[in-house]
Amino acid sequence: MVNDEMKTRAPLLEALANYLEDGVVRFHMPGHKGGRNLDPLVRRLVGEQAFALDITGVEGMDDLHQPQGVLAHAQDLLAEAFGADYSYFLINGTSCGVQALLLTLCNPGDKIIVPRNMHKSMIAGVIFSGAYPLFVAPEVDAARGIALGVTPERIRKMLQRHPDAKGVLLINPTYYGTTSDLQGIKSAMVPFGVPLVLDEAHGPHFYFHPGFPTPGLAAGAAAAAQGMHKLLGGLTQSSVLHVKGESLDRQRLESSLRLLQSTSASYLLLASLDGARRQMVLNGRMLLDETLSRARWAREEINKIPGLSCFGRERAGTPGCADLDETKLTVTVKDLGLTGQQVELILRYQYNLQVELSDLYNILLMVTIGTTDSDLEKLLFALREIAARYREFAKNCELLRRAEDLLEEPMIPELVLLPREAFFRSARVVNLPAAVGKISAEVVTAYPPGIPIVCPGERLTSDIIDYLTLIKEAGLRISGPRDATLETIRVL
Ligand SMILES: Cc1ncc(COP(=O)(O)O)c(C=O)c1O
Repeated sequence: MVNDEMKTRAPLLEALANYLEDGVVRFHMPGHKGGRNLDPLVRRLVGEQAFALDITGVEGMDDLHQPQGVLAHAQDLLAEAFGADYSYFLINGTSCGVQALLLTLCNPGDKIIVPRNMHKSMIAGVIFSGAYPLFVAPEVDAARGIALGVTPERIRKMLQRHPDAKGVLLINPTYYGTTSDLQGIKSAMVPFGVPLVLDEAHGPHFYFHPGFPTPGLAAGAAAAAQGMHKLLGGLTQSSVLHVKGESLDRQRLESSLRLLQSTSASYLLLASLDGARRQMVLNGRMLLDETLSRARWAREEINKIPGLSCFGRERAGTPGCADLDETKLTVTVKDLGLTGQQVELILRYQYNLQVELSDLYNILLMVTIGTTDSDLEKLLFALREIAARYREFAKNCELLRRAEDLLEEPMIPELVLLPREAFFRSARVVNLPAAVGKISAEVVTAYPPGIPIVCPGERLTSDIIDYLTLIKEAGLRISGPRDATLETIRVL
């Protein structure tokens, strides 16, 4: 139940406002002392007020690593708003929430089930913790070149093969807004008694409007790390971690957060979290109502443009796509004969619009509480013009045709060494063909569909090298290795 105090109070914002009003003379960090002697351009661009608010945990402002005052109070209100038992502010991004979950669940060598299309922060967490990752392949939408969620069946099978796994850590929703069948996954996990925890970086708004997919904690997740800066009013890097139930060791989680977070927490970030939470509690329903209607209207209009398509909730209920966050507009542009990257650049340099991301076939547009009708009208105008201008290109696009063959279900190579052991071994650079039979020292991910082809500690078989060669020749975007041209690769 939302109580009145939660609706109106923002303890941290109030404490900051008092500190400013009191005009405290600052003999403490940071060195700019509230914005004195700033570089003139910094002053003009950032503004003095931001520097005035930029303090850390001085007297009366509490301590993020041992909260007992205003921060503890603000975190309690945060937990209540999301239906969690307890919650934490994160100032090192959702990344550190995901990593803290891995450090809490796993001792070195412990098994953890993770999706193969994990975000880099998860790979880092696997390396920090020394966990043994059991990779579950996500479903893939080959026509759009995107990885979706994982199915309950695959989780069940993995747990049957590895009943000693310590838990399941999933990405839900994906960057593109698709969700896994969390209730089905939870049921499949019941006989094994291990927790489901979530990288819910793209899902904090689900908790404030019934028009979104089921929020993770409501579906039975024991914890969820969320990017308040990605979807709501938080400043970049500001995130939160929620816990429900007793399956996680609270002391261990808090020790992990202390290891991972800066000792100089930015109160600008923390205050933005406090405000973003209050805004959602007070006005979330109304703001998200408007956001959803705008996104639905834009999707409908995009789908009327010849050569473009934008999938919607009609996809819901299919494997790997139990539901969809309709505010994510994945616009598939391949029928124009252009890549998503090309459309991104046209939008940016000819129409002054910046997308969230682009890949081979798609651009991804995020409609949030900050998006206006006029923004969407500009977008639609640009997309209509681009579609009319480029539709004829479709016949010539060799890259798009070649890549389609590469988007079958990904192979998952044999894990020879734990990613952590591979990280600490010395590595050398070899030409790609000479890497057959060697153990990879690095992660190689191709976009689409953003699923690692190889991770540190995995064997580079001739099939994998052939696949990497095809990817290289097809000109797909490679992320992860030091040599992004893939002429060479680092092996142990
Ligand atoms: C699915 C997913 N998880 C985790 C992260 C990491 O979040 P942050 O950048 O806040 O550290 C991201 C960032 O894009 C993400 O997309």
